[in-house]
Amino acid sequence: MTNGSVAEHLLDFRNSCYSGCESKFEDLLGQDIYPRLLGRLLSQFAIAPNSGKKYEKFIDEIPTETTIGERKFLFNFFAQIWKGHYQVLEIGSFLGGSTRAIASGMQVNPNRLDRSKLHTFDKFENYYNPDRLLSFLAPLFENGSLKEEVCEQIKRSSDFLDIFRLIHQEHEYYPLIKQKRGVLPDQVEDTANLENIFKLPPGLMLDAVFVDGCKSWYGTKYFMREISACVLPGSYFIFQDYGAFTCFWIPVLVAMMQDYFKLVAYVDNTYTFRLTKHLDVQEMDQRFPDTPELVGKSNFDLIFSEMLKTAMDWNDTFTLVNYHLQHAAALAYIGERTEARSKIV
Ligand SMILES: C[S@@+](CC[C@H](N)C(=O)[O-])C[C@H]1O[C@@H](n2cnc3c(N)ncnc32)[C@H](O)[C@@H]1O
Repeated sequence: MTNGSVAEHLLDFRNSCYSGCESKFEDLLGQDIYPRLLGRLLSQFAIAPNSGKKYEKFIDEIPTETTIGERKFLFNFFAQIWKGHYQVLEIGSFLGGSTRAIASGMQVNPNRLDRSKLHTFDKFENYYNPDRLLSFLAPLFENGSLKEEVCEQIKRSSDFLDIFRLIHQEHEYYPLIKQKRGVLPDQVEDTANLENIFKLPPGLMLDAVFVDGCKSWYGTKYFMREISACVLPGSYFIFQDYGAFTCFWIPVLVAMMQDYFKLVAYVDNTYTFRLTKHLDVQEMDQRFPDTPELVGKSNFDLIFSEMLKTAMDWNDTFTLVNYHLQHAAALAYIGERTEARSKIV
């Protein structure tokens, strides 16, 4: 094969990935190569349309709990892969590092319809204590994005919805953002009395969901149940915590619903899946119980042994180590501490 035809294939690969549909390269390259390659491509700026470089610094300004690779990925994904026809949902915006990357990508996407917005939810309180939040926000005080008087506000209250607004409101992408308080219940019992419990506005249809606020087993189930009727087949689920060893419930949910999710890209801890059919709530209720205790040790062992085998087949050490740690975390969570310990020590 000549250099010219290699270049042609790469161009073809790029174009077919960016058409936003299932691409012939997915099968050709396989699950071990395609998602890694697409994740790598999208986390570079070299391939972004015209203005990619301009955004490199911009999406690195807000203190955040995501990596720069993940934010470049989000920017490029929403600029080029997302079809731009329906609504985008984010859960877990914090100060909006990921929100800015997504909204800026949406803004430059030539296919975005006017009606398409980014609906971003968070509990917007009680995450960092005031001292920690103040020191985390130091770069924004230093560069003048936040005024000194905001310090007093942060010392008085753990609520950061106003801070979120102040960080974003002057920017061109802000009209795309609809931020709202939404709290996910950590346990079934919390659903009855929780103030500001997460609810989607009526009538929303979603074609992309970024998840970085599902910090408990039941919170994840509640979230997926709430949005299930609003996500169209072909939509994307971008799970930031898929590769975080503490959040074992995310890969377990995906594994239990594996006929619904196809892996299309990953970078750092963020794994992106395409929804292959309508999310069936009853099916999810049956497969994913309300607590991890109801799954039990032998089922966790089975699920993780399958996942570990896949990561080994992919020759992917990072994913392999994460699955191993997540297996230990799941066992520790249900009280199998000795076994959990033996996996990590
Ligand atoms: C890891 S941070 C998100 C980081 C963010 N995406 C960024 O770019 O920096 C997790 C967020 O989830 C939110 N969160 C945690 N538990 C939640 C819950 N039960 N309901 C809603 N939001 C929650 C926290 O307030 C926090 O802002």
